[in-house]
Amino acid sequence: MTKRLILGQTLSFADDPFRVPVDAAVRHERRGAVLVEDGRIAALGAADTLRTDHPDAELTDHGDALITAGFVDAHAHYPQTAMIASWGKRLIDWLNSYTFPEEMRFGDPDYATEIASRYFDLTLSNGTTTACSYATIHPESVDAYFEQAQRRGLRALAGKTCMDRNAPKGLQDTPASAYDDSKALLKKWHGTGRMGYVITPRFSPTSTPAQLEALGALWAEHPDCLMQTHLSEQTDEIAWVKSLFPEARDYLDTYEAFGLLGANGLYGHAIHLEPRERDRLREVDAALIHCPTSNTFIGSGVFDMAGLTAAGHRVGLATDTGGGSSFSMLRTMAAAYELGQLNGSALHPAQLYWLATQGSARALRLDDQIGNLGIGMEADLVVLDLASTPAIAQRAARADDLWEALFPTIMMGDDRAVQSVYVAGDPVRMA
Ligand code: GUN
Ligand code: ZN
Repeated sequence: MTKRLILGQTLSFADDPFRVPVDAAVRHERRGAVLVEDGRIAALGAADTLRTDHPDAELTDHGDALITAGFVDAHAHYPQTAMIASWGKRLIDWLNSYTFPEEMRFGDPDYATEIASRYFDLTLSNGTTTACSYATIHPESVDAYFEQAQRRGLRALAGKTCMDRNAPKGLQDTPASAYDDSKALLKKWHGTGRMGYVITPRFSPTSTPAQLEALGALWAEHPDCLMQTHLSEQTDEIAWVKSLFPEARDYLDTYEAFGLLGANGLYGHAIHLEPRERDRLREVDAALIHCPTSNTFIGSGVFDMAGLTAAGHRVGLATDTGGGSSFSMLRTMAAAYELGQLNGSALHPAQLYWLATQGSARALRLDDQIGNLGIGMEADLVVLDLASTPAIAQRAARADDLWEALFPTIMMGDDRAVQSVYVAGDPVRMA
């Protein structure tokens, strides 16, 4: 059993920086160390102390680089990897023009495997160690994702995207097949190693009431599973939902009425919420997933981060690849900062970093396992070079504290800032 001692600056969270002052929320060791054993963090503290206490451990010294938990992307579409950055459309036209034709290809297991493999290579090189992804309607696309995650030892979440209307014929299932296929995949993958199955109705415009009801029934049978969907992303989408569900009180009600609102629910985007929707989401303690690069790229709107966190909502952060325009959670933090500015609230770097790690893990109900440095936590780590480009280096050189040193990397960093990644304690060989 190898013991590995990893040295560098360390950053971890003792609390939620949206709830308590940053100084109380954060633990920073200028010369710190993480002891890893059996895939988990066995000790954490000052480098000198841990070196003395564990002379038998294999040493890796990252110098001045910053060691934190790996990034957690709480909402992505891995099948959209190859069509990211497609120009010029808003949500519904973007889905019809670019997304659906690409997703049609995932009935071919070889293509699904090729893209899943590419997706994990890209996300790992960006320091993301867990992603919660939509697959396509094809069960093969779920198998490909989990198989590629397993090959890399990753903790991963995903589900078969269910659609039985308003999509091309080749991308539709039925209420019965959505239930049966999701259930079979859930039984195969949920709790297998580090895999978690997520029940996944795409969004209410592409599911009939019968399909939403079938998936609500499946969730009721497996309440420990997460359920993910989209909610109130664009105003034209909301108008469409109103016309498709004339009896619904609001968009959220199209889920609530069919058993698809709950504490283990993940609601992507959640931008244009009515007061009743906000209250109900808070009441049931559902998670809202903020996808900032997507919200600007597709032109969706500004998520109310300050208002929703102040009201006590659980919020995760996500790329929404490929509606989002990046695989990088650093770029995603930067976009969250910029959108916060538009809304009149400057998010602190500690809050941004917390959202990209512990906040997303908490949204996924995995915060006792991933998303933070802590004894007993799974040892998925990212090591950041805080001077990865000349532009970042010259700004960081003027920094007086950790936040000034880190913020340039948050705002201007990309995969070049990711010096190393560890998955379950083992270093990943970067492609
Ligand atoms: N709403 C329904 N499907 C999608 C999708 O694939 N991406 C985004 N951004 N929104 C959606
Ligand atoms: Zn999405």
